[in-house]
Amino acid sequence: MSRKILVTSALPYANGSIHLGHLVEYIQTDIWVRFQKMRGNQCIYCCADDTHGTPIMLRAEKEGITPEQLIDRVWHEHKRDFDGFHVDFDNFYSTNSKETQHYSDTIYTRLKEAGLIEIRSIEQYYDPVKEMFLPDRFIKGECPKCHAKDQYGDNCEACGAAYQPTDLIEPYSAVSGAKPVRKSSDHHFFRLSDPRCADFLKQWIADPAHVQSEAANKLGEWLQAGLSDWDISRDAPYFGFEIPDAPGKYYYVWLDAPIGYMGSFQNYCDKNGLDFDEYWKPDSEAELYHFIGKDILYFHALFWPAELAHAGFRTPTGVFCHGFLTVNGTKMSKSRGTFITAESYLNHLNPEWLRYYYAAKLNGSMEDIDLNLEDFAARVNSDLVGKYVNIASRCAGFISKRFGGKLGACNTTATAEFVAAFSKGEIAQSYEDRDYGRALREIMRLADVANQYIAEKQPWAMAKQEGREAELHEVCSTALTLFRDLTLYLKPVLPKLAEHVEAFLNIPPLTWTDAWTPLPAGHAINEYQHLMTRIDPKKIETMVEENKQSLLPSPLGGGAGGEGATVAQGTNANHPARHAEHQQNEAKAEAAASPWEPFIAIDDFTKVDLRIVRIANAEHVVGADKLLKLTLDLGGETRTVFAGIKAAYAPETLIGRLTVMVANLAPRKMKFGLSEGMVLAASDERGGPFLLSPDSGAQPGMRIK
Ligand code: 2FM
Ligand code: ZN
Repeated sequence: MSRKILVTSALPYANGSIHLGHLVEYIQTDIWVRFQKMRGNQCIYCCADDTHGTPIMLRAEKEGITPEQLIDRVWHEHKRDFDGFHVDFDNFYSTNSKETQHYSDTIYTRLKEAGLIEIRSIEQYYDPVKEMFLPDRFIKGECPKCHAKDQYGDNCEACGAAYQPTDLIEPYSAVSGAKPVRKSSDHHFFRLSDPRCADFLKQWIADPAHVQSEAANKLGEWLQAGLSDWDISRDAPYFGFEIPDAPGKYYYVWLDAPIGYMGSFQNYCDKNGLDFDEYWKPDSEAELYHFIGKDILYFHALFWPAELAHAGFRTPTGVFCHGFLTVNGTKMSKSRGTFITAESYLNHLNPEWLRYYYAAKLNGSMEDIDLNLEDFAARVNSDLVGKYVNIASRCAGFISKRFGGKLGACNTTATAEFVAAFSKGEIAQSYEDRDYGRALREIMRLADVANQYIAEKQPWAMAKQEGREAELHEVCSTALTLFRDLTLYLKPVLPKLAEHVEAFLNIPPLTWTDAWTPLPAGHAINEYQHLMTRIDPKKIETMVEENKQSLLPSPLGGGAGGEGATVAQGTNANHPARHAEHQQNEAKAEAAASPWEPFIAIDDFTKVDLRIVRIANAEHVVGADKLLKLTLDLGGETRTVFAGIKAAYAPETLIGRLTVMVANLAPRKMKFGLSEGMVLAASDERGGPFLLSPDSGAQPGMRIK
């Protein structure tokens, strides 16, 4: 029986570009949805831009446009990027919609009736010039611990300390520069600490269908520690929905962003004649799944189900949580060029390459996944071009040139062997479990079987021999049937490529039940057009170069996350899954991407005494793998320095050359003797160490400043 399934991905903030980190989730979800559709299930994929909040309001103001104009522009950019990666939402909407407002009001009113909304007075920093309360990210000042200047209100980027904005020394508003004042205001809270919520949630997370086991463990810890009430309002001026019975108060993100899932679905229902309640009533038989990143687990697996359950709606069937993306083993970085936007990727590379690579890495767990750019090229080239596309490119030409573009009968023994080579249900089960890596391993194993068949039969040899026409026809037709089946299994991951194959094989869109029925003899196919090129590593290099930039962090900067760490105020401050953490991932991924911070003062720099030296002698050190012993002439005085440059330099090549040393580094006793300073050399993953050399004219002993 066909299932009714509603699927969502987290709503992206409408003040930043989609980047490769976001795409892990959208590609993961899209593959799952496409798989469900191919299986014949009714599966609806809804998403929207998350449009409300202070950063969006301030950014629009800075650009001299209205927030509505800003979110409209960003919506089109996001839609373009998602289309570019073939992320095929059934509805991509906006939280700034009457439907979302309706459900925000409904949920708020019902929670209030249930006695789960409480008003409390909160004291916060207020910008007297801008006349607005300041989210933590919009307050800066001196770190109370390490005294670094210009640190954000929630934690210090220099020493990593976490604190309250009130702990900052000499705080100032990042919006106007004014000294903020403390001011009280009433805030609305959702009483997540109410025993009704905890009791319900304990049961809810105990069902293994609802959350992955690793997520259940984390949620259990949070429940154990006790749930805090959740601040759900913000004061004017704010871009969002005003709370109906509280003029000047607005719903904060978690009381409108997830509700955007409902708003988007309602809008879809209105356009397509579906019944919203059938999916959202408490006893609904439809399934509801949310794909999310691990940073918003708290909100989706505690706050959200509690909110829905007590407002008379159904709760999710499952919350599917994934990890973060690293590139080349570390956090995406603008300075390294690995903070890659969707747009920039699409300017250089084929979106299906990335879909394939992400799918190969995803296994349904919450582990982080790494996009290793070298491995990416190698994997795609070997699997997709070398194994899969190769099957068609080796056989298709014979069909068009020798057999008028018509297939012959397939060799049923060969197709039967192919069927026997794997268990049919395994690929489907792997997709269902979001273990795409497993599905692709199985599919590539089948591609190997198909390639072995071709290699054994050698159609290119048959083509040169008289009287082997029938055999050649059979081998190529059989291979193309196997290719069709592989395409079917790859289709959730490679939908565009599958479309091209469908056009080439002249067949209707593939569905899951098409496998294993040989393409019939006499079936006319179209001329083979090249299906996929190899990744040229130079294109990756160019893309990375293009993304390299140094960026100074700004709380208003494009791509910075939403709301700042506002929930760190009030009772949420000590929460283990503070919204702040989430904001840091989004916003600080950019900010921290600046390698130049924390800045040092000129006084800090002048403390380092850098001098030109001549390498008077260089020799190997017995027993040391990496070190050379250098004797450095500072223009009269000499120093001994042990330098880790043995792998890059033969000692005799160094004698006599000029370089740079740190002359006032405290001497350090090493296993091989006393090292009286340090020579400077450059290195990174591209190579090194490379010693520095001054321009001609520099003399030993000269100071560098
Ligand atoms: O975390 C985020 O990216 C927010 N924009 C919320 C996304 S999920 C939601 F909408 F609930
Ligand atoms: Zn600090």
